[in-house]
Amino acid sequence: MEGGKAEGADAALRRHPCPNFGQSMLAGVAVRVSLPNFMLIRNGAFSGDIRAGQGMQERKMIRLTVNGETHDLDLDREMPLLWALRDHIGLTGAKYSCGIAQCGACLVLVNDMAMPACVVPLSDVDGAEITTIEGVNGRVADAVMRAWIGRDVSQCGYCQPGQIIRAIDLLSHNADPSDAEIEEAMDANLCRCGAYQRIREAVRDAAIMLA
Ligand code: FES
Ligand code: FES
Repeated sequence: MEGGKAEGADAALRRHPCPNFGQSMLAGVAVRVSLPNFMLIRNGAFSGDIRAGQGMQERKMIRLTVNGETHDLDLDREMPLLWALRDHIGLTGAKYSCGIAQCGACLVLVNDMAMPACVVPLSDVDGAEITTIEGVNGRVADAVMRAWIGRDVSQCGYCQPGQIIRAIDLLSHNADPSDAEIEEAMDANLCRCGAYQRIREAVRDAAIMLA
């Protein structure tokens, strides 16, 4: 039985698309649960959704409007928004990478503001309007996506949903950003492929389209 549980956890880590997932996930578990609970997890007592510490907190329905669709979710209120989007709503566009609000891969729009879904607990977004990369639309989003295609920005693509969400956030609140303002806004999003120059050029192109 023990062997079976260990195998299940390993399989879950292998399935995740991000190469840093295992290390970051375990770090996340360590900071989100108390030591006794962490020991139970290590001993295989929780074989289900260990990331959010399900079952350890008081439950109350969470209401999210995601891409215009309302979801009433019976989930731990301290679960990060990213888990709810990816694992419970089935929207996998926002990506997991650092898990500590340092890379921008998981960005979504919360009431039109870009936020790192990996660290935002559901309790903070109960009743909010969420837009993920799957649901972006409108004039600004159209300009950003046309500019992205025009500059052939994407390489591996892993960081791209977060980059595009950040660009939409910037141009929605500042239609004519200076190069310094583009740099400052986009600097918070990491790209392992180093597509930084094309990303900045595409944001500038989108701003020109919107002028
Ligand atoms: S995964 Fe890096 S900021 Fe959320
Ligand atoms: S395109 Fe590969 S990480 Fe940015």
